[in-house]
Amino acid sequence: MPDRIRLDGKVAVVTGAAGVIGTAAIKLLAERGARIVAVDRDEKQLLVAIKGLPAQAEAHAVTADVTQEDEVADYVRAAMDKFGAIDVFYNNAGIEGDITPISRYSLEMFRRVLDVNVVGVFLGLKHVLPVMLKQNRGSIINTASIAGLIGSPEISAYTASKHAVIGLTKSAASDCTGTAVRVNCVCPGLIDSRMLSTIIAGRNPGNAPVPNEKIVDRIPARRLGLASEVASVVAFLASDEASYVSGSAYTVDGGRTAAY
Ligand SMILES: NC(=O)c1ccc[n+]([C@@H]2O[C@H](COP(=O)([O-])OP(=O)(O)OC[C@H]3O[C@@H](n4cnc5c(N)ncnc54)[C@H](O)[C@@H]3O)[C@@H](O)[C@H]2O)c1
Repeated sequence: MPDRIRLDGKVAVVTGAAGVIGTAAIKLLAERGARIVAVDRDEKQLLVAIKGLPAQAEAHAVTADVTQEDEVADYVRAAMDKFGAIDVFYNNAGIEGDITPISRYSLEMFRRVLDVNVVGVFLGLKHVLPVMLKQNRGSIINTASIAGLIGSPEISAYTASKHAVIGLTKSAASDCTGTAVRVNCVCPGLIDSRMLSTIIAGRNPGNAPVPNEKIVDRIPARRLGLASEVASVVAFLASDEASYVSGSAYTVDGGRTAAY
């Protein structure tokens, strides 16, 4: 069967591109034909991620901190200078913050998590939307999380931030009323990744190993998700196949939030 989810010629800007999910996303979007602008604050890892792209991929790396408005404006300008359009924006950079109960959560870290996960997403929207609205086309995908849908222990700032990302997504989609610009978010569940390992370890002082069966206990799929499985949903939302999808929060969680 031919692959209908093609992104040939589209320009895709991806933040957090050096991370586990971002790297999987730039790889899949490039394989599907997109030209990539990969953004991350970690310059070294960003170059590693770019090196992993298919040989024929057209890609440009921009080192930027998503919490700094001038640096966000710079990555948008860099994309326009390089490729002349932005068709897809995967607004994905995020941090987990501390893993600790609210009573012990530092105000400084709480603010830091909101700064990266909410202000960073907001600034990306603020600077990319005018480009897309002018083009009258484009697809934005924010990375929320199942932590944007349910609460779970010891990640209060992260949970608050991801609830906010879903709200920002709906608000931005409404701002695009009457245009061909769509805004959605993905809500990954437990993805096999550095971030998940950090959260699990943070909840287990002394680092007692947690059996895999216990971790996947409440996931109907009975396994962790893969970053590539998040990327697949991002590619769908980025594509013209999702032409009537906007304001949605897509879970990629093996059924976790649907289960009791
Ligand atoms: N891993 C999971 O299980 C999981 C589940 C749900 C949602 N998410 C979300 O998916 C996204 C990607 O997570 P991941 O697992 O790839 O994490 P990761 O830590 O591997 O990648 C995050 C990337 O964001 C970058 N980043 C952080 N702060 C930044 C800043 N201020 N400016 C620019 N770049 C910055 C980091 O350098 C890193 O490369 C995050 O928003 C995360 O909250 C992850």
